[in-house]
Amino acid sequence: MSPRPETFTIVIFGAGGDLALRKLFPSIFQLSRWGHLPSAWRVIGVGRAGYTHEQFRRYVRDRVIELSPESVDDRQSFDEFCEQLFYVNTELDEPGGYISLYNEIMRTRGDDGGCSNLLFYLSTPPSLAPVIVRNLVTAGLGGREHPCPGWRKIVVEKPFGHDLKSARELNSILEEAFDENQIYRIDHYLGKEPVQNIMVFRFSNGMFEPLWNRQYIEQVQITIAEDFGIRSRGAYYEESGLLRDIVQNHGLQLLAAIAMEPPVELSPDSIRDEKSKVLRSLRLFSRETVHDSVVTGQYEGYLGEKGVAPDSKVETFAFVKFMVDNWRWSGVPFYMKAGKCLGRTVTEIVLTFKCPPQNFYGKYGTAACTPNQVVLGIQPDETVAIRFGTKRPGEELVTDPVFMKFDYRTSFAEKGLTPYHRLLLDAVAGNQMNFIRRDSLERSWTIVDSIRDSLDGILPDRYPVHSWGPESDERIYESSPD
Ligand code: BG6
Repeated sequence: MSPRPETFTIVIFGAGGDLALRKLFPSIFQLSRWGHLPSAWRVIGVGRAGYTHEQFRRYVRDRVIELSPESVDDRQSFDEFCEQLFYVNTELDEPGGYISLYNEIMRTRGDDGGCSNLLFYLSTPPSLAPVIVRNLVTAGLGGREHPCPGWRKIVVEKPFGHDLKSARELNSILEEAFDENQIYRIDHYLGKEPVQNIMVFRFSNGMFEPLWNRQYIEQVQITIAEDFGIRSRGAYYEESGLLRDIVQNHGLQLLAAIAMEPPVELSPDSIRDEKSKVLRSLRLFSRETVHDSVVTGQYEGYLGEKGVAPDSKVETFAFVKFMVDNWRWSGVPFYMKAGKCLGRTVTEIVLTFKCPPQNFYGKYGTAACTPNQVVLGIQPDETVAIRFGTKRPGEELVTDPVFMKFDYRTSFAEKGLTPYHRLLLDAVAGNQMNFIRRDSLERSWTIVDSIRDSLDGILPDRYPVHSWGPESDERIYESSPD
């Protein structure tokens, strides 16, 4: 657990939005209730809804109870929590509004110097980020301005840009106002307990790491599947599509954690160096290679979703074969399947090992070797399972594959923190380990842009709801790995 932070103020842009109401306010409430926050903290919401402080408090109270009732386990504490909320009403592109924000920060700082430490949280569409940052600077609230002593940090939600060009522009604007060590590009997947366990599993056990390479591993499969569609996010999805929504961030971050080398030390930058190297080793896509490496799909019924164009070509599914061109992984395909409206909601990583050189037991009944696997369950099951062959009881010498399984929920009494609890605490404490550094972010966009550019004109295949995507994805497995 990060040390208890000093007094601070969180300024949330997009405070009336879904993410803030479902994740941020419930997480801040619970952290304060569990004693992880200092007694003096406050949240200032910024938006154009025209609320007074009191109206904003009422709005947050009602909506959080509606959207995240499980987080409000004590109404009285929640009411007290809401008293710490304030509101600044402004258009986000209106510089004058940021002077009001400045004044509000100074006004609410109190005797404890609560304005000293400021965390700006951008929970807004990426197109608004540049104007917000510019206006913060003009109002004297940039990362290098010090209206009072203390730290300044800025958390930027995904999607961080729309492609490499826009991500670069946003990075440049941010860096005019904040140093890289003040910028927290969030990918909530990195706050998930089983995702954090990937490195621990690999680097704290002597028995797996020696096998974790091209000599022993046949292939890696990363699945990020959801059994539901785009819900009410039609407008967002039409702009984004699955490659940008999932592959560019969650998918490539999982891949980097699986493929990275051991870091020199457990410092944020040592870890981020190794992840960045993996992303740099990922082979880019071209018109020539894309047919055998990528299948995209769109679920039947997508065109009828609210906010979706009747002739939309946006993908809600992708199956991609990545190749990591480095010493450890050369020739090992990393398959990534991600999509909406698939068979079930599951995120898992399966490492399949090569078969032993001779299959003695084949002639006794098991035709082909059933390879060993390590299965890292990320959600809903938080598990690690190992598949191996074992002798079936009885007279015959026949092997059956069996699983040995560890499950977080049954092995530990204590519950882990949710991603937003953890990442908020990390940001406040100044720990960037689980936030994306600029080089990795831009390289991820280069990779996804190369897929999208190569696909130009190739339309997504339709797939039935609750299937596992278009059948055309079989051709990816059939193509040679290298
Ligand atoms: C978000 C995506 O980043 O992650 C969503 O925009 C997706 O499309 C969500 O549903 C999945 O996150 P989780 O943690 O709920 O599985």
